[in-house]
Amino acid sequence: MFTPNQLRQAYLDFMAGKLAASLNSSSSTTTTSAIEVPAMRPHAIVPSSPLVPENDPTTLFTGSGMQPMMPYLLGEKHPKGQRIADSQKCFRAEDIEEVGDNRHTTFFEMLGNWSLGDYFKTEQLPWFYTFLTRIVGLKPERLYVTVFGGNPEIGVDRDDESVQIWQKLFVADGLEAKAVSDAATKGFQGGRIFFYGEKKNWWSRAGAPANMPEGEPGGPDSETFYDFGAELKLHETSVFKAQPCHVNCDCGRFLEIGNSVFMKYRKTNGQFVPLLQQNVDFGGGLERILAAAQGTRDIFETAFFAPIITKLSDLSHLDYTSVDQTKKASFRVIADHIRAAVMLIADGVLPGNKEQGYVVRRLIRRSVRHGRILGIEQAFMSQLVAPLVVLYQEAYPTLGTQANLIETAINDEELKFQRTIAKGLKEFDKAPPVSEKSGQTYLSGELSFKLYETYGFPLELSIEEARDRGIQIPEQIQTEFAMAKTLHQDASRTATVGKFKGGLQDQSVITTKYHTATHLLHAALRQVLGSHVGQKGSNITVERLRFDFSHPTAITPDQLVKIEQQVNDWIKADYPVTKTMMFKTAALASGALAFFVEKYPDEVSVYTIGPVKTDQSAAIELAAKANDQPTSTWISRELCGGPHVQRTSEIGGLKIIKEKAISAGIRRIYAELNF
Ligand code: SER
Repeated sequence: MFTPNQLRQAYLDFMAGKLAASLNSSSSTTTTSAIEVPAMRPHAIVPSSPLVPENDPTTLFTGSGMQPMMPYLLGEKHPKGQRIADSQKCFRAEDIEEVGDNRHTTFFEMLGNWSLGDYFKTEQLPWFYTFLTRIVGLKPERLYVTVFGGNPEIGVDRDDESVQIWQKLFVADGLEAKAVSDAATKGFQGGRIFFYGEKKNWWSRAGAPANMPEGEPGGPDSETFYDFGAELKLHETSVFKAQPCHVNCDCGRFLEIGNSVFMKYRKTNGQFVPLLQQNVDFGGGLERILAAAQGTRDIFETAFFAPIITKLSDLSHLDYTSVDQTKKASFRVIADHIRAAVMLIADGVLPGNKEQGYVVRRLIRRSVRHGRILGIEQAFMSQLVAPLVVLYQEAYPTLGTQANLIETAINDEELKFQRTIAKGLKEFDKAPPVSEKSGQTYLSGELSFKLYETYGFPLELSIEEARDRGIQIPEQIQTEFAMAKTLHQDASRTATVGKFKGGLQDQSVITTKYHTATHLLHAALRQVLGSHVGQKGSNITVERLRFDFSHPTAITPDQLVKIEQQVNDWIKADYPVTKTMMFKTAALASGALAFFVEKYPDEVSVYTIGPVKTDQSAAIELAAKANDQPTSTWISRELCGGPHVQRTSEIGGLKIIKEKAISAGIRRIYAELNF
């Protein structure tokens, strides 16, 4: 069994041509056991780039292995040649709130190999298959793959070539390898190779072809999944049980472990024009491959996390494997966040108030909160640094040399937060953030926000304290809190416009764009799914929006595409966004939507998106239908405190990242904007 360091090294050695002597023979193809594989052409191994990108102002963090390779994929000569491999440290802040399940992490290592105008599909797929089955030792029957199903609209054909390559490999290993389509609706159909559309099997930094900005490179891809086994019956207990299980289903049976992108196009004047060179951009999750090798679905049970989990068990006197799901999630959040914080600090990001520093602060503060769920009230985070240093210093020596600094930075931040908590608790006791309704005492979102704003006391802690004291917690507490926050941001933005340069102002501009995008999304959902759709909650960060809404059934991929497309069409149409003050009754009578009607004063501010231009008659009709209005010239009208952009084109573009059920009849969408 590989240790984490051994697995990383095995991949790098394999790509360098140092492993599997039979793959290095001088003949053009050789035979390894049953399969025929092109001889390995050695790659230059390069060190990981830092987590904070150099010379790339478009992004705060390095989020994929290819990011530092961009210039070379576009044709610049790489100093080390045309074949490069590495293990790249990656951080995805947008995944912070996903952490808690068995596979999401904010920090991860992406094994990567690149052909910069050198080899292509016939080498890449057999090499990766060989690595998985011959070096790591995964059983071929546990592997399933996906390929691009083609799209005539962008002039890119179905990837039958990859199908043939995969089939040859699987068949040589004694497996029938049927290629099938429509798995999302028809399920497995006895297939091993699955065609999916561009939502799944097209890769670019911006996602699907339609979302790619001019000049962006991308291409079809082929993903590899590991099957933990139908016998686990994961699907039967998941929220997806009404839909067929397939490799891209989120029930947890399958884990994506690698993605080979055939990056040979560049968006030019809206067309997909072949790049001068054909590239391969491969990325594989190091931790996920180890999970498959160890046969555990839970990456927090792998050797990557074992030392932290053990230490956390010591500190909390709880056993990770036997705690309930809430506590298990807290173990995972802390394990993920401390690792990410350590890696970020080692790359020079100290906890602070702005940009990357603020993310590190959030990671530490969230961990402290989850520590409390595990019953740890004292500062504990810095004790988790040493096991991480032991695990990672071989691959990332700066961890060793900076261990003391990292411990101190984490401890200081934790103590600062402990003081915040202590102050907030005192205030909570003195003046509980509650309101009365029909003789009942409720936790108030607005007052909880005051506590947060004045003392930094997080909403989650107010909820925790309220629960301990038997105070009722309204369902809409998150939204009420978010609303108070938005109103506050609006007020402070007005007060500070022009005073700030950079950071703070940028952030509120971004959240403003997200806010208007949320209104458009709401309108598009009502248009595509029907006017029964109503907002149930909303949460906006500088990285994404989250929108909860009522809808009784699953949403089909087709509907999702339509919803996204509609929002983007409205954005492109550059509609004005206007604010009017109206009496509540008049506003509602005019068709304005209101999230919590009873919360608004008599005179309300109403935001209208539109009117649409007269030549947009189809859009007018659709918007009217969506709002149950016979005639209407606007897209969206809502009672809202704002702030909003002035014209929809300021939003840029919207991409739906994820859609899922969160409870009976309530669904959730995550979306990102590209500005
Ligand atoms: N760029 C691709 C990904 O991030 C493969 O490296 O998945």
